[in-house]
Amino acid sequence: MPTVPLRDRAAWQALESHRAELGEVRLRELFAADPGRGERLTAEAAGIYLDYSKNLITDETLRLLVRLAEESGLAGHRDAMFRGEPINVSEHRSVLHVALRMPRGGSLTVDGVDVVAQVHEVLDRMAGFARRVRSGDWKGHTGKRIRNVVNVGIGGSDLGPVMAYEALRHYTDRDLTFRFVSNVDATDFVEATRDLSADETLFIISSKTFGTLETLTNAHSARDWLVSRLGTQDAIAKHFVAVSTNAERVAEFGIDTANMFGFWDWVGGRYSMDSAIGLSTMIAIGPEQFHDLLAGFHEMDEHFRSAPLPENLPVLMGLLAVWYANFHGAQTVGVLPYEQYLKRFPAYLQQLTMESNGKHVTLGGDLVDYDTGAVYWGEPGTNGQHSFYQLIHQGTRLIPVDLIGFGKSLNPLGDHHDILSSNVFAQAQALAFGKSEDEVRAEGTAPDVVPHRVMQGNRPTNVLLAEKLTPYLLGCLVALYEHSVFTQGTIWGIDSFDQWGVELGKQLAAQIVPELTSSTEPDLSHDSSTNALIRRYRRLKG
Ligand code: F6P
Repeated sequence: MPTVPLRDRAAWQALESHRAELGEVRLRELFAADPGRGERLTAEAAGIYLDYSKNLITDETLRLLVRLAEESGLAGHRDAMFRGEPINVSEHRSVLHVALRMPRGGSLTVDGVDVVAQVHEVLDRMAGFARRVRSGDWKGHTGKRIRNVVNVGIGGSDLGPVMAYEALRHYTDRDLTFRFVSNVDATDFVEATRDLSADETLFIISSKTFGTLETLTNAHSARDWLVSRLGTQDAIAKHFVAVSTNAERVAEFGIDTANMFGFWDWVGGRYSMDSAIGLSTMIAIGPEQFHDLLAGFHEMDEHFRSAPLPENLPVLMGLLAVWYANFHGAQTVGVLPYEQYLKRFPAYLQQLTMESNGKHVTLGGDLVDYDTGAVYWGEPGTNGQHSFYQLIHQGTRLIPVDLIGFGKSLNPLGDHHDILSSNVFAQAQALAFGKSEDEVRAEGTAPDVVPHRVMQGNRPTNVLLAEKLTPYLLGCLVALYEHSVFTQGTIWGIDSFDQWGVELGKQLAAQIVPELTSSTEPDLSHDSSTNALIRRYRRLKG
């Protein structure tokens, strides 16, 4: 990693001057001056076409951003990740989600262990189990086949499974019902299970650590729910499996480790949907299609590893994110999929991007003097258009957005898909070019309304276009964002693979629980606000 602090790097300083020179560069002018721009500023890999021409950039911007990536040691850091070096410095761990999707027969040795062989051993066990559940061969305690699968997990042990299930619903076995319980709010568990028969229900308790309070609380409730309905603890063996790195805790909970699917500490929670954490996905879509998903991930990994930086999709997207965050002061990024099946994709990306790059110190522990990870958010189009797009079009903030579209619908119906897709292109066009005062006047608009109807344009977009949403394509898409996150984190010189910031809240909550449950008035020693809130809560709960 470079020793020169980010803001002192030559490319950073050149970008600062370049940004000042560019001033209020207009996309209208950039397109007018270069008729080939819309085809030139594009890149393609693994079935994803990226049009980044409607960004506030020139060729010089790109050249300088690539130089920044070079000066920041991006290629070296990427290669260190692929070699299994412990680039998660604060946890002294390798970061090897890329090994989860290496093809059988590949090899990656870390500390003398071939992790690819280990990965495929687990995948094979998962496949055997998934086939038994799908075929009805795996029977519940009363001899009935499993019809309902409930994944219990939170964060990376929930968001990946639920996003993948929704995204790939078209490919799932419709005879099986899938539910996902994550929140410690009992409503989540109660609503997810209220119409399920216990004798046909399989719980997958997914937790990397098997120590997460929410998941363990839900897992205990699930166990009580099952045992109370089937009348015996013996039922657990046929209705509970675990996905975890912690065999000891799994056994303590009462799940036979023969029914546990493992993974490793070099898989971060938010990078784990393609590990055993994807067991529910594999049961839903079957092992073959799960392997297609992995192949998509791997294809994008290979592209990230080998494509020259200026043609590298994740690198380009990561650099553009840095450009807006650090040189335009953008605080947020919208991700707007025009594909209903991707409705949980923005939520999934929130953990991936914000838990990874929401960091305030460098790898060396110094406070950063620049902004790091942006706020990611989004909803599927076209719904968002009738809700928050107004602010993107005419508000005062710069909000770069990614629009994701597909050539084919998985549910062709009349002209729905053409109408949907027309909106992808129309939104990108409207955001970029807006509507000038002259154009508004020329429409015969009343003079007092003219200013309200003017759209300044110059709102940047990436358009991602692919043929159709398949397991393979989903793998490519997730890996694209993973490596974009990596690119941003490398430039910022932060640890994108730890998440210490979530710990304090957990510790404080653990301290507060007994203060809420004790039958006698507790001695409170928090700040006056927290004390008052706890007292008020105790009165409210009666
Ligand atoms: O609290 C954050 C976090 O540690 C995430 O990083 C992780 O995905 C989630 O909790 C769940 O952790 P586990 O899989 O260990 O239950």
